[in-house]
Amino acid sequence: MDKALPRHVSIIMDGNGRWAQAQGKDRVFGHKAGVESVRACLEAAVEDGIEYLSLYAFSEENWNRPQTEVSTLMELMLLSIQKEAQNIMTHGVRFRVLGNRARLSDKVNHAIDSLEDASRNNSKTTLVVFLSYSGQWDILQAMKKAAASLSPEEFQALDAPGFEQYLVTAGIPAPDLLIRTSGELRISNYLLWQSAYTEFYFTDTLWPDFRKPQFREALEAYAHRDRRYGKVK
Ligand code: IPE
Ligand code: IPE
Ligand code: MG
Repeated sequence: MDKALPRHVSIIMDGNGRWAQAQGKDRVFGHKAGVESVRACLEAAVEDGIEYLSLYAFSEENWNRPQTEVSTLMELMLLSIQKEAQNIMTHGVRFRVLGNRARLSDKVNHAIDSLEDASRNNSKTTLVVFLSYSGQWDILQAMKKAAASLSPEEFQALDAPGFEQYLVTAGIPAPDLLIRTSGELRISNYLLWQSAYTEFYFTDTLWPDFRKPQFREALEAYAHRDRRYGKVK
């Protein structure tokens, strides 16, 4: 499978609420169980030599959920960063968070900054958490940044690789494989620009049930894909 190992695996982690509701429990139980799936998939990614594992944890649109759910999710994010920090360091994982950081609390931003700093030189898998992120927001902020830093002539001359330097994902390869759990067949404003030639893998499995075997099943499916990039083979 080595030849067809994806460099960058990305996951839209969906279905926590339904997982909890199916057991007659509050949605928050699903989010908590989902953290276990994050740990399992990260472990598998490190073991398998995946360079980048990225996770859609909270979208810009998720701010529109009930206030109680939003604060629970932010609290859980904070606790998970604190709790997983040691694990991330011992596994040599580099931790990064990408998204609209201005909307996050000082507490959350501080926790992110310290783990990003501590793990900066780790060289195993890079874990990228997309938090308060949306693809349209990313493209807009990139356009504004480019417009502010380039002359009108330079702006007119921008090509796709040039523009990508202004996206928050600058320097990170585009995802090779994008997994979405819970049976939804949509991208929900995730990596719109970056997923131009990404392979998609949809599964009905709900995120809290998505563990190492399911992760490896997705890798196996990817190994059989034929990527053509518009060319004739
Ligand atoms: C994914 O699970 C987690 C986030 C989007 C934060 P959901 O909370 O969307 O769970 P469902 O889709 O309602 O089951
Ligand atoms: C997508 O899930 C966002 C994350 C997983 C963070 P949603 O549950 O928010 O997506 P929709 O609303 O079903 O499209
Ligand atoms: Mg959902």
